[in-house]
Amino acid sequence: MDDFRSLWTLEPGLDFLNHGSFGACPRAVLEAQSELRARMERQPLQFLARDLEGLLDEARAALGEFVGGDADDLAFVPNATTGVNTVLRSLDLRAGDEIVTTDHAYNSCRNALRWQEERGVKSVYARVPWPLSGPWQVVESVLAAITPRTRLVMIDHVTSPTGLVFPVTEIVRRLPNVDVLVDGAHAPGMLPLDLRSIGAAYYTGNCHKWLCTPKGSAFLHVRRDRQAAMKPIVYGHGLNSPRTDRGPFRLQFDWGGTDDPTPFLCIPVALKYLASLMPWPSIMARNHAMAVAGRRLLLEALRIPEPAPEFMLGSLASVPLPDYSGERPVHTGVWWHPFQKQLLQKHRIEAPVMIFPEFPRQLIRISAQIYNSLDQYGRLAEVLRHGA
Ligand SMILES: Cc1ncc(COP(=O)(O)O)c(C=O)c1O
Repeated sequence: MDDFRSLWTLEPGLDFLNHGSFGACPRAVLEAQSELRARMERQPLQFLARDLEGLLDEARAALGEFVGGDADDLAFVPNATTGVNTVLRSLDLRAGDEIVTTDHAYNSCRNALRWQEERGVKSVYARVPWPLSGPWQVVESVLAAITPRTRLVMIDHVTSPTGLVFPVTEIVRRLPNVDVLVDGAHAPGMLPLDLRSIGAAYYTGNCHKWLCTPKGSAFLHVRRDRQAAMKPIVYGHGLNSPRTDRGPFRLQFDWGGTDDPTPFLCIPVALKYLASLMPWPSIMARNHAMAVAGRRLLLEALRIPEPAPEFMLGSLASVPLPDYSGERPVHTGVWWHPFQKQLLQKHRIEAPVMIFPEFPRQLIRISAQIYNSLDQYGRLAEVLRHGA
């Protein structure tokens, strides 16, 4: 089997089974980023004021082709949290309106709902069972939460705690009169994507997770009929630009103030580099197969049935752990669970342990990227079998 691990700068001797949280960028892409930064610092005016627009256009075109969207409908944002906040703050909602999401939604995105909650909008959490037996349970649960006051559904494409692929296309199709914001933080590079056929009003996705770009590169795809209302969180030069060669959506999102644009410019680099190791469909298939095989090892060690069918997984997989027996662990942006700490400190395994769906129930999640190998999940399974 190819050993891709040396192509990443990951700490030697560590079983890094948490690509999901923040991704990990290969050495070659980091080097390309360094070159871009050096070019920027050699002639900042040339780079930022003259070359950048064309470079962003190229990056957007490559990304659009990869995710099945028109480059004109894509805006770069630094991360999915910003993508979600951008949409929520742009919506003209009224007190009493409702936004439906699920109890598998990511913490920062739940917090993003507060901006509307502070204006009297109600967040409604559809309960999606965990364990579950099929995607219809997600659809049923979301549809049951819809009322005549529902103005938006915010739904994950791949859930963070449970690593499930939610049936977002079906949800969009079943809600012709309600706009859907898909939080696709994990989807680009994990799942084959065709934003056009998903048809959501809004879709945000990270490139720094499964596309392996440097951190701070994500996109927001806004359907053409919703772009006029969309405003970036930061108002910059683009807001009063007299230019007519580009629309306001493009102008406003492309210039939010001086910043390092190299994470976005590395998108075409990462797409090409990863494809040179293995075609993208094979990367996705291999990562999925590894997550499934890794999960089987953990399930066997814990002697429990699968909590979700294999076809609902991408390259993340979670398994329930016995209920938590200590004091409630604290969530400080990410969980820093005592068992997670023990895995790292005693066994050199990095894998997130989360309280889910609620205290004292908990789970552990594995990720599979091409630098991982099955023996790494085997070592985690052994720890689970014998107790840490
Ligand atoms: C489902 C989901 N949404 C949003 C995010 C936030 O991504 P970011 O930290 O890049 O904004 C994550 C991060 O793990 C996630 O899993």
